[in-house]
Amino acid sequence: MQAIVYERYGSPDVMQLREIAQPVPRAGEVLVKVHAASVNMADWHLLTADIFLVRLAAGLFKPKRSILGIDVAGRVETVGAGSRRFQPGDAVFGDLFPNHGSFAEYVAVPESILETMPVNLSFAQAAAVPLAAMTALQGLRLGRIAAGQRVLINGASGGVGSFTVQLAKYFGAEVTAVCSSGNVEQARILGADQVIDYKREDFTTAGRQYDLIVAPYSAVPLSAYRRVLSPRGRYVMIGGQGSLFFQLMVFGPLLSKKGGQTFSLLSAKGNAQDLAFLKELLAAGKLRPVIDRHYPLAQTAEALRYLGAGHARGKVVIDVVQEAV
Ligand SMILES: NC(=O)c1ccc[n+]([C@@H]2O[C@H](COP(=O)([O-])OP(=O)(O)OC[C@H]3O[C@@H](n4cnc5c(N)ncnc54)[C@H](OP(=O)(O)O)[C@@H]3O)[C@@H](O)[C@H]2O)c1
Repeated sequence: MQAIVYERYGSPDVMQLREIAQPVPRAGEVLVKVHAASVNMADWHLLTADIFLVRLAAGLFKPKRSILGIDVAGRVETVGAGSRRFQPGDAVFGDLFPNHGSFAEYVAVPESILETMPVNLSFAQAAAVPLAAMTALQGLRLGRIAAGQRVLINGASGGVGSFTVQLAKYFGAEVTAVCSSGNVEQARILGADQVIDYKREDFTTAGRQYDLIVAPYSAVPLSAYRRVLSPRGRYVMIGGQGSLFFQLMVFGPLLSKKGGQTFSLLSAKGNAQDLAFLKELLAAGKLRPVIDRHYPLAQTAEALRYLGAGHARGKVVIDVVQEAV
């Protein structure tokens, strides 16, 4: 089969299209013929090892697993011993993390992490969902989202942000989206009640307060968030500048008070229950993936380079099988 292989950490230039052996599903796994994958910042971190901690988990000197790709959508090709949930031919999607390997024509996947695809989605749309949408859902739940809350989403236009806006609206919140000028219209279309263009206005000095702030992108220090959170407001950091992660890890627990403001860091984990919940919303048309760009498998390095530049508008998809339009 064809796969995008990397054998050392580095820029997208280290990725190569190669012919390699097809994986064989073990007990409890199914072999999926990959129709589409999508790229995530986790792939970027695993490729570049720009965060040193990546090396502790993925290999100190070189990556232990040579194929990236966490999100997958495709058809079950064969099933391993004891796998009973799916039949060959079923259309499935899922989030492979902490494993990866969907930048390839086939991947062996534990059946427990997959869900059947909603029938109204293409493979490309389904591949855009799992990691980003589950992260958005878990971020909002960590912040105890409730109907009627004033929720601000900082970094509302990327993969995670575009799902966070839609899910916050689904939960009945009044949503303020923060994004750059070119993405203001998209945030409105996704349902945001107010949109702040961070290039023109600083929400930390605008005098408004929020019950929940969820940040798929954060470049704002905790002291500024404290000002704009209501007295019992919650802040959930999902992504952003590395120094702010450390600030949150050190000072978050000290600043979080019972009955007062709380500051937490999300560590999202894919699971079949959350994917099933999202599948229902997708099937009912209450949630939709926003796809910025499509790339063929051979141009996965280009897709990662684009994502790594930090301004994708929604998700970036790899079409492993070109679908008829
Ligand atoms: N904690 C977890 O468990 C977890 C799980 C998954 C992902 N993540 C992290 O979450 C982050 C977002 O992931 P993603 O897939 O959504 O990435 P993405 O698709 O690349 O989106 C990043 C977004 O950040 C926005 N942005 C850049 N500068 C900004 C600024 N100054 N103010 C506000 N927004 C700004 C960009 O919007 P504009 O183009 O409009 O500027 C872009 O759309 C990443 O750092 C990722 O590593 C964390």
